[in-house]
Amino acid sequence: MRVLGIETSCDETGVAMVDTSPWEAGEPAGKGLLAQALYSQIAMHVDYGGVVPELASRDHIKRVLPLINQVLNESKSSLKEIDAIAYTQGPGLAGALLVGASVAKGLALALNKPVLGIHHLEGHLLSPLLAERANIQFPFVALLVSGGHTQLMKVTGVGEYELLGETLDDAAGEAFDKTAKLLGLSYPGGPAVSALAVQGNSEAHQFPRPMKHSGDLDFSFAGLKTAVLTQVKKIQSSHDLSESEKADIAKGFVDAIVEVLVSKSMAALKQTGLKTLVVAGGVGANQQLRASLEAACVKQSYAVHYPPLHLCTDNGAMIAFAGAMRLKKNPQLASKDWGFDVRPRWPLDQLV
Ligand code: KG4
Ligand code: ZN
Repeated sequence: MRVLGIETSCDETGVAMVDTSPWEAGEPAGKGLLAQALYSQIAMHVDYGGVVPELASRDHIKRVLPLINQVLNESKSSLKEIDAIAYTQGPGLAGALLVGASVAKGLALALNKPVLGIHHLEGHLLSPLLAERANIQFPFVALLVSGGHTQLMKVTGVGEYELLGETLDDAAGEAFDKTAKLLGLSYPGGPAVSALAVQGNSEAHQFPRPMKHSGDLDFSFAGLKTAVLTQVKKIQSSHDLSESEKADIAKGFVDAIVEVLVSKSMAALKQTGLKTLVVAGGVGANQQLRASLEAACVKQSYAVHYPPLHLCTDNGAMIAFAGAMRLKKNPQLASKDWGFDVRPRWPLDQLV
């Protein structure tokens, strides 16, 4: 089965074609990723310090068809060879989601092929299975850390997700982005703060580890951001932040956030009795988080898996792949209903 995936939930237009045969033959699913294309709008939004929804929708309209053509060419697929089309139905920006939904439905109608709306976070959640050498078995605990969400989920199978804990305020990626802004770094903040932190000194600042000992699996990052703000203001009251002061703050921030994410992930594994952790979402690209999780998991004999770096942030491959997995599990899901809606707000544990 060849599935075309279309992702337009935020500021990245992603398109990909997956072939399910390697995965059906018991090989890593990543081998079936025939082609993928991505256009990032970051440069367009950078002057605004964040994503401008209307600009995002308009840009998706411009990019999506050329990217589909590119993926068809690179995967050497004709339109007729597409067996199904998957698109991101939510959560995300309403106007941006509508672009992918309209294109997917229109193409499916023209080709008389089935079409399937996918939950964006389910795409992230299953993306580690796309690693070239991955051999991940259900059940596992998933740490979902993106710009909009921070959640620990128990994943028993495709579509079987139990929320174990989540952030009560800011998402981890949002905390990175806000810290970047406070330090005068450019959007998106995650990569910028991470790069700067590498040069910083861990001893310079001890920021709080919010809710580390709360006894549950929830998170809170708003207080950490306030602690960073307080420190920045204190320094700025006497002089402008130097590059090394910025690096020290970035390092203190990353240390704190990583420590909490690692500690709660280990607690989730202990609580569920599961032995496998899967990390997904943009913050999963952070190298310090990866190294710390790796070290903690080795100690406890847990396995930890990540998506390949280029599939950590938004992309079409994860949507194509989630669509393929859903259709394999339940072929009835393939709809030839050409009406559609998008779900800008959509809790993952409400997915059936
Ligand atoms: O999953 P994603 O691409 O989009 C959402 O669904 O939100 O995640 C984007 C988030 C942004 O907040 C970005 O700053 C963060 O992931 N991010 C990172 C890194 N790369 C991206 N955070 C920390 N370290 C990184 N290397
Ligand atoms: Zn995402």
